[in-house]
Amino acid sequence: MDSIRIQGRVALQGKVRIQGSKNAALPVLAATLLVGECSFIENCPRISDVHAMISLLRSMGCTVHWHEKGVSVDSTQVRRGEMPQEAVTGMRSSLCLLGALIGRCSEVVMEYPGGCVIGARPIDLHLSALEKMGVEFTEKGGKLKAQAQNLHGAQIQLPIPSVGATENVILAGVMAEGDTVLTGAALEPEITALCRYLQDCGADIEGVGTGRLLIRGGRTLYGTAFRVPSDRIVAGTYLFGCLGAGGSVLLERAPGEELGAVLDAAGEMGAKVCTAREGVYVQAPDRVGRVHIRTEPYPGFPTDLQSAALAASVCCEGVSVIEETIFENRFRIVDELNGMGADIRVQSPRIVEIRGVERLAGRHMEAKELRGGAALVIAGLMAEGESFVSGCPYIYRGYENICRDFRELGARVVSV
Ligand code: UD1
Repeated sequence: MDSIRIQGRVALQGKVRIQGSKNAALPVLAATLLVGECSFIENCPRISDVHAMISLLRSMGCTVHWHEKGVSVDSTQVRRGEMPQEAVTGMRSSLCLLGALIGRCSEVVMEYPGGCVIGARPIDLHLSALEKMGVEFTEKGGKLKAQAQNLHGAQIQLPIPSVGATENVILAGVMAEGDTVLTGAALEPEITALCRYLQDCGADIEGVGTGRLLIRGGRTLYGTAFRVPSDRIVAGTYLFGCLGAGGSVLLERAPGEELGAVLDAAGEMGAKVCTAREGVYVQAPDRVGRVHIRTEPYPGFPTDLQSAALAASVCCEGVSVIEETIFENRFRIVDELNGMGADIRVQSPRIVEIRGVERLAGRHMEAKELRGGAALVIAGLMAEGESFVSGCPYIYRGYENICRDFRELGARVVSV
């Protein structure tokens, strides 16, 4: 089931329920290590990145079970802070295990983490923040070894609001001796979710949802039940799918309040959007209007939806511009889209200009990373005739079942 076959040009209608958030679930799962008791994580998405994180937790001694409504993690017996290579190099989010394991075991050995191939993705901010908290890093046989005899609070200022570095400081900070003051923290809702989970466990964190966090370390943490919020990126993907293919849909449980910049862009493209208690309603225009999108840290337009917006814009009226300010090398789908008949010109590694065309023609495409892969599915929905997207394991890292979800909306999409 490595490919997806799409019969395009079917307007989307109906409703689809949005899964739990990948980027919230992964750090929360890492945080269960700090608790030393059993936690129940509800609404955890059944995606391959979550399965990989669960394998990592098991390899460290946690007992993890799937239930109908979520996953239980018992971390009473954490034995070791060494992570198996395959799991770490395949998943960028394994990086937040660094802060969690330092907090729990005082010593960690790990490979340099992987993730999607979008830009250089350095980890210097993670390392320098943790060093301020008393962690010493050495290299051991090409691996990264971290040790902290005396993990302590610190004053940390992040020069860039890195999501991952913010998570690591929080995870280490709740276990450290004394207070940690983190300024320049990322504001992403997934950080708030992590803090809420830790607060429910008994952690003392002030300033949640702001760029200045005060973490009073050393509190005893207890197991708790926590519900993972809905995935704003999956919701945004389906929204742009609707804009590209046409139609009107209800994105059930979509977190409208976290999608401000995305709904603004959709509005600029001519969509009618309405946020309600049950989710977000979207009605696509007959033809998408031109738009200027610039990716930014939250609450700006998310880099994770840049490819979906790009795909949805290729048949726009006039000329659209997309600027990517977070990662380089994130326009990897341009050649595939141009091969379908799009007219996208790469002005610089960070800016593309999209001259709207009348139609796209279906073809074979290859997913090379998670969000770009989902965007190719959107392009297939827009195109005349049949399209195939191969390399779909990338997509399954973040989407529970993208084919089922688009079928719920009437699209003709199957995995083959
Ligand atoms: C980023 C996104 C996040 C998204 C995730 C998965 C932002 C701000 N973050 O999180 O929303 O869910 O990718 O695609 O949009 N950086 C350094 N040194 C470091 C760490 C980061 O220079 O040690 C730079 C990165 O190169 C990047 C920026 O900081 O330009 C933001 O990166 P960061 O937020 O850490 O990335 P992720 O945590 O992977």
